[in-house]
Amino acid sequence: MKQLTRANLRHLKALLKKSSNPAATVYDSIGAGFFLEPAPGWLNLGLWEGPGEESAAEGAAQRLVATLATELPRDAVVLDVGNGLGAQDLVIKEVARPRRLIALNITESQLRAGAQRLRVAAALPVAGDATRLPLADGSVDGVISVEAAFHFSSRSEFFAEAVRVLAPGGVLTMSDISAERIWPRSPAELFAGVFNVRMWGLSRRSLMPSGSIAAAARSAGLVDVDVRPVGERVFPPALEFFDARLRRSVNEPWHYRLGARLMLSGWRLLYRRRMLDYILLRAAAPACGAAEQTAPTS
Ligand SMILES: C[S@@+](CC[C@H](N)C(=O)[O-])C[C@H]1O[C@@H](n2cnc3c(N)ncnc32)[C@H](O)[C@@H]1O
Repeated sequence: MKQLTRANLRHLKALLKKSSNPAATVYDSIGAGFFLEPAPGWLNLGLWEGPGEESAAEGAAQRLVATLATELPRDAVVLDVGNGLGAQDLVIKEVARPRRLIALNITESQLRAGAQRLRVAAALPVAGDATRLPLADGSVDGVISVEAAFHFSSRSEFFAEAVRVLAPGGVLTMSDISAERIWPRSPAELFAGVFNVRMWGLSRRSLMPSGSIAAAARSAGLVDVDVRPVGERVFPPALEFFDARLRRSVNEPWHYRLGARLMLSGWRLLYRRRMLDYILLRAAAPACGAAEQTAPTS
């Protein structure tokens, strides 16, 4: 049986006291080859077309990325923010055929673990934070971010950075988890919410309803902001898949199985009570003339 790793211990400590890089603490602990991953290299909940069967899991993870990547301009410079273990960069390459693909992640261990996939995708790995993008103004044509923004220290700062690095008329396409109701109405809701916030290293600020996420995108200067709730195609099938995987994972360490059980029962409750939803968001940077028109004059 696998023992607790140092990264697991740091993650456990972070349940009590937030670390300086909460997302990396979580993903260093999960590592590559996590027992609940839908398929090697994937760490998202997927966009499903039917029940949450094992045989459909990789397709669901790929469909989520392909659906988002379809919005990207073709033959362009694309920035992938929060790229996980790199499996999604192969899909982005196939769907959007970028001229240049930059894969940015705050978890350096994931960039290392996904290095081979990034090579195949011809993606440039960059260690960095979504809220302080290490890129020049107007240097990319498309930004994609798959199921990562709830980790960012501020969505508003990420949107502002997206506006800054996008060329006029460039596109932002992303998926995110929204908190449609924040205040718990029962001890069970309180426990499920607090456990998930601590386990995923989230901040109170990251809990935002979809309407506020769209408003933050507009305030940052993005235009044509379109938000599509797709929770029904995400949570019920993903939970069915994870439950079955967990039942089969009898040889995994007890602490992984216990954490997963608490996490999944929390998601089930929070989704059933309409506290959580899953959204796809598409927006654009203002076109050249529009940006000049909306710029304040002195
Ligand atoms: C739920 S995982 C999703 C991974 C991947 N997009 C996928 O779908 O398989 C969230 C990802 O966001 C990354 N991340 C979290 N906070 C970040 C930040 N501030 N800047 C860049 N990446 C971040 C994590 O390291 C992780 O790779």
